Amino acid sequence: MRVKPDFRKFHEVDAEALCVSLFEGEGLEDALLRELDQRLRGVLAAALTSGEVKGKFGETLYVPTMGALAASRVLFVGAGKRSEFTFDTIRQVAGTAARFLRQRGIRSMAILRRSTLELSRSAQAAVEGVLLGLFDPGTYKTQEKEERTIEEVRLVAEGESEAEMQRGIERGLILAKATNFARNLVNEPASVLTPLELARRAEDMAARYGLDIEVLDEARMKELGMGALLGVARGSDEPARLIVLRYIPEGDEAFLRRLPTIALLGKGITFDSGGISLKPADGMEQMKYDMAGGAAVLGALRAIAQLRPKIKVLGLVPTTENMPSGRAQKPGDILRTMSGKTVEVINTDAEGRLILADAITYARQLGAQTIVDVATLTGACVVALGSVYAAIFGNDQSLVERVIAAGREAGEKLWPMPLDPEYREQLKSPIADLKNVGGRKAGAITAAYFLKEFAEETPWAHLDIAGTAWLEENKPYLASGPTGMGVRTLAHFVCQEAQRGSPEHS
Ligand code: BES
Ligand code: ZN
Ligand code: ZN
Repeated sequence: MRVKPDFRKFHEVDAEALCVSLFEGEGLEDALLRELDQRLRGVLAAALTSGEVKGKFGETLYVPTMGALAASRVLFVGAGKRSEFTFDTIRQVAGTAARFLRQRGIRSMAILRRSTLELSRSAQAAVEGVLLGLFDPGTYKTQEKEERTIEEVRLVAEGESEAEMQRGIERGLILAKATNFARNLVNEPASVLTPLELARRAEDMAARYGLDIEVLDEARMKELGMGALLGVARGSDEPARLIVLRYIPEGDEAFLRRLPTIALLGKGITFDSGGISLKPADGMEQMKYDMAGGAAVLGALRAIAQLRPKIKVLGLVPTTENMPSGRAQKPGDILRTMSGKTVEVINTDAEGRLILADAITYARQLGAQTIVDVATLTGACVVALGSVYAAIFGNDQSLVERVIAAGREAGEKLWPMPLDPEYREQLKSPIADLKNVGGRKAGAITAAYFLKEFAEETPWAHLDIAGTAWLEENKPYLASGPTGMGVRTLAHFVCQEAQRGSPEHS
């Protein structure tokens, strides 16, 4: 797909369809809408008067131009209240339009700028909306597969700056493609995407984008004392891996030495059967998405490699299946984690926190000064926040706020949750330092608390994306299935931290 800026007047833009957002309750006060309506001989005025369109969010009105404009059709898309218009509205309008037009066989679309929000970020949001909207999860369909595609997108902004527009387009393409890369990984069945295959795809990605990568095998994990990760892996015939990606910006040694290191960690359970604490059959097929956090980290590292922020980044993805077998770990088993802390396994289905515990310890050993992990960690998080917000936890208020801000920029909603020391009580074990579950109450919090024990003094934040990594139903601009949740938040966060730490900033 090609994306180009177009600085002509809207009526000169010769795409198959021109998309125009409409705000709720607006008439023809705006000079641009008035001119558009005149050229279309009052079609818009008529539709507004009759109430056929009101500018309500997600509404569409599709009209042929019959030669009145260079574009052969106009698609009006409701954008909701002007006062609530944000970059995310642009993303959603663009995504809605792209999906609507593809379904009707349109190959070239143009999007008209209708706000005064910052140009480059607006262009970026529009590009993201289109690419995210067009993601097709029907990978294995042999019939009714979506063959049609939008080949060209023009962003129409008369008289605006080319450089700024190009910058936004570039960033939008990078972030949206990285998100769709993660969505593809999440969408793969567990028979295809085993831990070895996930590691192989990480290697391909790293080679393509110039990242360093090291993949630790089980022998190496054993040497490092990663008893928690290995404990989970025991039940599976597929060997476990720990993927370690490294992004280092350009610069001489002295410069690099002064740069901080951020570690991004993602849960990479390629299938979560629950292990000996087996899950019920109903819905178990969904547990292929239990590596969505890992995919988000791979996607984020891919974007970071292209955006080139001045900061060092580690990407860690512990990956294994969680399976029952004659060799699987059992409830009551004791694990010795890499940190030295011991864990009583009460429920083998609480495996995410086990593999992340060792990854957190390893990240600290590798010199991470800040850790952000992303995981489909608990069903309790789905109960608490549904599929709208992901939960965020942390041991450092400022870090949590910075990640929430990055999420806002990315269009990914994060809601802060408490981690007061009182919750530690629920993780007390009579036989070991911790148990791996904290009972029925506050399940998302006790899971996060477990991780906090391993972060120790390192500033750390945790995103529970169990409810947001996979959509059961289509949203107007997003197909049901994997969302790529976390990719853009992590990428923005890293870029933001690089700005924060840079000499120009201080
Ligand atoms: N992968 C699941 C969490 C999950 C649930 C993700 C639903 C996506 C959708 C996790 O490993 C798990 O099984 N957690 C248990 C923990 C419990 C045993 C304390 C849960 O949430 O039920
Ligand atoms: Zn589980
Ligand atoms: Zn799991």
